[in-house]
Amino acid sequence: MWAHAVAQPNIALIKYWGKRDTERNLPAAGSLSVTLETLWTGMSIEFPASAAGSTDISTERSAEGLANTDRLVVNGRRDSAMLARVSTCLDRMLGNPRPPAAVHSESNFPIAAGLASSSSAFAALVVAAGRAADLSIDAPALAGFAGAASGSAARSIHEGIVELRVRDEGIDVRSIAAASEWPLQVVIAITDEGAKATASGEAMIRSAATSPFYQSWIERQEADLEAARDAVRDRDFEKLGAVSEYNCLKMHSVMWTSKPPIVYWNEATVNALEAIRELQRTKLPVFFTIDAGPQVKAVCLPEASAAVSAALSDTAGVRKVIVSGLGRGARLLDEPPANSADGA
Ligand code: DP6
Repeated sequence: MWAHAVAQPNIALIKYWGKRDTERNLPAAGSLSVTLETLWTGMSIEFPASAAGSTDISTERSAEGLANTDRLVVNGRRDSAMLARVSTCLDRMLGNPRPPAAVHSESNFPIAAGLASSSSAFAALVVAAGRAADLSIDAPALAGFAGAASGSAARSIHEGIVELRVRDEGIDVRSIAAASEWPLQVVIAITDEGAKATASGEAMIRSAATSPFYQSWIERQEADLEAARDAVRDRDFEKLGAVSEYNCLKMHSVMWTSKPPIVYWNEATVNALEAIRELQRTKLPVFFTIDAGPQVKAVCLPEASAAVSAALSDTAGVRKVIVSGLGRGARLLDEPPANSADGA
């Protein structure tokens, strides 16, 4: 039996950049994000009734000397790069030995390009896998499994504005405002659809080892989180914008001062920032954030979204603009995801 799930990527306003425990993939500090509405990743997974059914599927894992043979197809193509992470995630959930899995993933946006594709992919994977294996897993445990696969994925289990806190025993993730409670909009300026040169997991480990700013970045995260949490509680857009931009620029400063430096920005990234600064000078309620990639995400109040979208579309080097509201958490579907957010 197949199980199907869908999840939307999330964009962090207070960033996760650093791991406390690489084995368990525990973040070094908390983070706060918005789950998007119009971008999605659908996951379908099947565990054949017996491992005997696995003979005709992937040999990637057996080539690595591992017991199971899982198969991963991403957007219609066999994907061996992501397979190990998917298999490890399934091992954590189901134990090993286990039946091999056939996994199909479909996204309606470019993957590995700084659009948080791993957040939606692993959130959808754990939800689908739990159902396909007939496990009953509650939301905290789903977030734990998703986060162990990719830190940001834990946040896509939940809707709207989401906070992740790090406890001694693991992570605690919850929605602090539903999309309907504060309907922010996110305008994404795509400046390059290619995959990034350095994966975020690898890059943050390098930052921890080499940036002279890393320690102070981690120590000050709690203060930024508190300011952002208060801003969400008070629906104080200006305060949320100020702390989010500050936190984003601090994270990129840590990246830039790593050895060798990690620079995800391009010329159009800077042009888009300047366009947002210009809109702010006209008192438009908008702020920026940038993740491990060259895309710029402009967060705004609904009344500003048309103007922000128009300004970013007109910005030199911006190839495409996507507008999204805030969306729902990861969930099961009765059928494979249709090719639209509504269908999902
Ligand atoms: C810049 O969640 O992709 O987007 O846990 O190693 O998979 P891994 O990292 P990942 O890192 C996200 C980094 C970020 C900031 C954020 O989403 O908080």
